Amino acid sequence: MPNAYQKMTDAQLDAAIAELERQAADLRALNLKLDMARGKPSPEQTALSKPMLDLLSADSDLSDQGVDADNYGAPDGLPSARALAAELLGVDAANVSVMGSSSLNIMYDCVEHGYVHGIGGERPWCQQGEVKFLCPAPGYDRHFTVTESFGIKNVPVPMREDGPDMDVVREYVEKDATVKGIWCVPKYANPTGITYSDDVVRAFAALKPAAPDFRIFWDNAYVVHTFEGEGDELLNIFDALAEAGAENLVYEFASTAKVTFPSSGMAWVTASPADMAELRRAFAAMRVSPEKISQLAHVRFLKDAAGVAEHMKRHAALVAPRFALVEEKLTAGLGALDCAAWTHPKGGYFVSFEGPEGSAKAVVSLAKELGVTLTPAGAPWPYGNDPRDTNIRIAPTYPTLDELGQALDVFVVAVKLVSARLARSERG
Ligand SMILES: Cc1ncc(COP(=O)(O)O)c(C=O)c1O
Repeated sequence: MPNAYQKMTDAQLDAAIAELERQAADLRALNLKLDMARGKPSPEQTALSKPMLDLLSADSDLSDQGVDADNYGAPDGLPSARALAAELLGVDAANVSVMGSSSLNIMYDCVEHGYVHGIGGERPWCQQGEVKFLCPAPGYDRHFTVTESFGIKNVPVPMREDGPDMDVVREYVEKDATVKGIWCVPKYANPTGITYSDDVVRAFAALKPAAPDFRIFWDNAYVVHTFEGEGDELLNIFDALAEAGAENLVYEFASTAKVTFPSSGMAWVTASPADMAELRRAFAAMRVSPEKISQLAHVRFLKDAAGVAEHMKRHAALVAPRFALVEEKLTAGLGALDCAAWTHPKGGYFVSFEGPEGSAKAVVSLAKELGVTLTPAGAPWPYGNDPRDTNIRIAPTYPTLDELGQALDVFVVAVKLVSARLARSERG
């Protein structure tokens, strides 16, 4: 369907471009310096967790169920930390390792394990010639960077409203033994904000991979990050695996990066008993035992899943108005022009925006000129290559509401001007 600019007469279109150029010049004169690029909690959000810092002092008892937090030992983490991590994902604590402050770091370690040592007794990927990972796109750029950094070939898979296109996934995974993994963010996906449907989760659990060393990298980064109402329900992948009679297929990851402090939270991995036994051997060669003082502070602060849910409501109170403002500004500015579409998530950190074909790079660069930094266009695709150049990731959590409002005003003018210029150039 043609958009409003494409429907205009030449004279109307020229007038619209002139008016938008005037608006852009006014915005440029404001010398703004605003950032909507990365999914970071705002300072008010991280402040919510500062009381955690008062819970441990020189006088504190540093033992947790008989384990000393202030010494080596407990390679899978403190018992209470494992219990909390397991409760949040609905899995057995016996299959959980809590370690470090970054889930991405654990994902890297797991890819490295496959690449250097091999999974399930198979030859290491580095000895198998070309190997591939599937990358539902748009997706999380840092996932793709991990596999790219090993020279693993990243293959894009289309994303739909209920998850990755499972016909495409099945075709690759079941027919091509060089496919060793797939990156998934199953709840409030980065950047689309969608949650995989039960059918999609069951289709993942029912995969019959051609490669025995294929694993699903199930990054449940936003499992508790609902900001609207009851939020979305995600079927537990390990329940779906049990239903399908499947084992050794999924590594699941999560962290409190956006519950407490990004880069100073606690992170964990869970998998089948056999996969965990193998991963534990790999981790044991990397470290003596994980950092546990921060784990202790976390469990004393958050306590259990109910404590986390309460804490996340306080985050939601700060995050929801920002997402509402995105919706309001985009609807008011672009809703009637038929040149753009965007997602309406109930949780997570992002809105995924689709402009006209061939517009995204130009919009990001024009917004930059007008003082607003956005995630680089194409970043959510393997190798930064958005084939239609339509997608822009909006990350509204970090700026204040005032800054966000200004940044969105700039964004709307940039989208309109680029769309109008594209309509002009289509006419030659
Ligand atoms: C999908 C996803 N996974 C992982 C991370 C990073 O998590 P961590 O800080 O635990 O490494 C992010 C951060 O933006 C993310 O969006």
